[in-house]
Amino acid sequence: MLTRCAASSERDPATERRLYGRRRGRPLRPGRKGLTQDLLPQLTITLPDGRLLDPAALFPATPTAVWLEIGFGGGEHLAAQAEAHREIGFIGCEVYNNGVARLVGHIAARGLANIRIFADDARLLLDCLTPASLGRVFILFPDPWPKRRHHKRRLIAPATLDRLAVVMQLGAELRLGTDDPDYLGWMLEHLTAHPAFEWLARRPADWRERAPDWPATRYEERARAAGRTAAFLRFRRRGL
Ligand SMILES: C[S@@+](CC[C@H](N)C(=O)[O-])C[C@H]1O[C@@H](n2cnc3c(N)ncnc32)[C@H](O)[C@@H]1O
Repeated sequence: MLTRCAASSERDPATERRLYGRRRGRPLRPGRKGLTQDLLPQLTITLPDGRLLDPAALFPATPTAVWLEIGFGGGEHLAAQAEAHREIGFIGCEVYNNGVARLVGHIAARGLANIRIFADDARLLLDCLTPASLGRVFILFPDPWPKRRHHKRRLIAPATLDRLAVVMQLGAELRLGTDDPDYLGWMLEHLTAHPAFEWLARRPADWRERAPDWPATRYEERARAAGRTAAFLRFRRRGL
């Protein structure tokens, strides 16, 4: 398993972490396909060969901070955050090509110049970011992998948290959402056991209700429509 930013020649799929879940969905509609072909190349992050990447340098004007969303799905939350905070640089990671195309649509429709896209496994990017370079990270409704034998596929895992602890600034916030009670317990267990993260909830409403500056995602809306309740967890990267 690679735990440092590898040169592309070293990126051997056989030795890298496996990615579960789908990368491709239905063929894109012609309009969306054309827009994606036109815009995505300018927005795409390419990993530097064996060197670290300063995410602030991805944007033409130095942003006041860089925030990362992992697994942005259709990009509704990321686009809403980027529109509300044009001074901040946003990185979105998503492996599902239809989700990436949807985000490109939001970017074009809203004229957003402050989003860059990594259309691959977020863990590859995390390995390459300079330490203490992120001011906020969102991982919203990650795949819960409910079967016990699939728990090792979960994105929230000690290795991911260790890497987030390196790339997040002291005081930076990590936001997690889930509608899966078992994954909620798993998240709390792993995060509260990690020395670099402090849970910010002081009362039940702090995790049962979404903060006003936290737009809903598509998966949250689907969960509510199906009668499931969602939880919203906020952690702070603390000094050790
Ligand atoms: C259950 S969906 C949630 C999507 C969105 N956050 C929402 O709440 O609507 C989880 C998403 O994470 C993406 N994903 C899973 N593992 C990933 C990884 N290692 N890097 C980037 N994206 C990932 C999947 O492709 C999927 O779109």
